[in-house]
Amino acid sequence: MNLDLFSPDAPGRLIPTIQGATAFVPSPLPPKIDLAAVFSEYGSAMAGIGMLNAKMAQLGNPKLIIRPLQRREALLSSAMEGTYTTSDELALFEIGADGATKADTKEVFNYVTALTHSVSLMRELPICHRLIREAHDKLLSGLSQQRGGHKRPGEYKHDQNWIGGVSPSQARFVPPPPAETVEAMNQLEAFINRDAPEDFPPLIEAALVHYQFETIHPFADGNGRVGRILIPLVLLSRGLIKDAVFYPSASLESKKDIYIDRMFDVSTKGDWTSWVRFFLKICQETCESSIEVVDKVLSLQLEYRERAMKEFRSNNVVILIDHLFSSPVVSTPIVMGLLNVTHRAARMTIGNLERIGVLEKMEGFNKPEYFVARPILRAGS
Ligand SMILES: Nc1ncnc2c1ncn2[C@@H]1O[C@H](COP(=O)(O)OP(=O)(O)OP(=O)(O)O)[C@@H](O)[C@H]1O
Ligand SMILES: [Mg+2]
Repeated sequence: MNLDLFSPDAPGRLIPTIQGATAFVPSPLPPKIDLAAVFSEYGSAMAGIGMLNAKMAQLGNPKLIIRPLQRREALLSSAMEGTYTTSDELALFEIGADGATKADTKEVFNYVTALTHSVSLMRELPICHRLIREAHDKLLSGLSQQRGGHKRPGEYKHDQNWIGGVSPSQARFVPPPPAETVEAMNQLEAFINRDAPEDFPPLIEAALVHYQFETIHPFADGNGRVGRILIPLVLLSRGLIKDAVFYPSASLESKKDIYIDRMFDVSTKGDWTSWVRFFLKICQETCESSIEVVDKVLSLQLEYRERAMKEFRSNNVVILIDHLFSSPVVSTPIVMGLLNVTHRAARMTIGNLERIGVLEKMEGFNKPEYFVARPILRAGS
């Protein structure tokens, strides 16, 4: 870590750690934030949140959109970490299709599980150590040794970690050593669950929490991803959004270098204003792109239902269409179970949806055959 970059305004302590390197331990939140300096970006981001909430109210059934958005978040947040799969492979993995066993796909699937698990835990718990560790556990559980399976899912780090570079002394940034981690996380938990949460607008609070979490880097692996999961959780916990429909990775991924530089500049110079401004801009873009996805999903649903009713007058076709929005790959046995019909009837319903271009047969699968609702999968990506 280049210590020359740290100014007296750096919001934390520099302390010695392993191999003669120096680590940065952030001061507890909150810092002094110049709200007037971020006023314009704050207004635009809040307008975006207002529009997203209005769009959700129009949608009626949030379930239609939550899964496509979560899949997209899992793909993009994992891509930022260097883990890649396709939406086809992820959808196949979700239904346990044979052959869908790639390690990357499992890891992205874990991301969706970590998201849904932590969102549902929020019904019983505040954002706290347990919730954060459970999200981490879901994210890294069941992975092979090379994929982080050995990196203690659900446990804070036991060894000094670092970001960028081959060793702590050459790293761009060295977060706190393990001995400081629990105390730093206690302070973060105390800030999130403070007595007067209204002293910071939720979007700015999410910016502070994300920075602080990333700077503590409490886990051996998965810090980027767990920290990005925290963002919608903060907004949900404050009631800024009602459903889990806010996922920033598409926008963060497109500005990855700036994202990292802005956080680094907080640690080295105490430049909170640039970080918060950047974060608010990300929030605005996130709302805009979520609204686009909602629009695409809504119009597909409308179009498919209308066509199905006109051509087939069958309630089963409509049930299958709705199912495809949460699970866009099906097989004949899946449809038999869903509709409680014979093999022949299930295959016929699938055939009907193939005919009107909703489903297409996936290459390379024969026993069983799989069919994908590609426009629905694409709407989320
Ligand atoms: N200078 C920095 N200060 C704070 N956080 C940073 C900094 N640089 C990067 N980050 C955060 O750390 C993440 C990458 O760091 P690292 O590769 O150590 O993560 P990780 O623990 O492997 O997490 P994941 O596996 O989810 O990417 C980035 O996505 C970003 O959120
Ligand atoms: Mg990693």
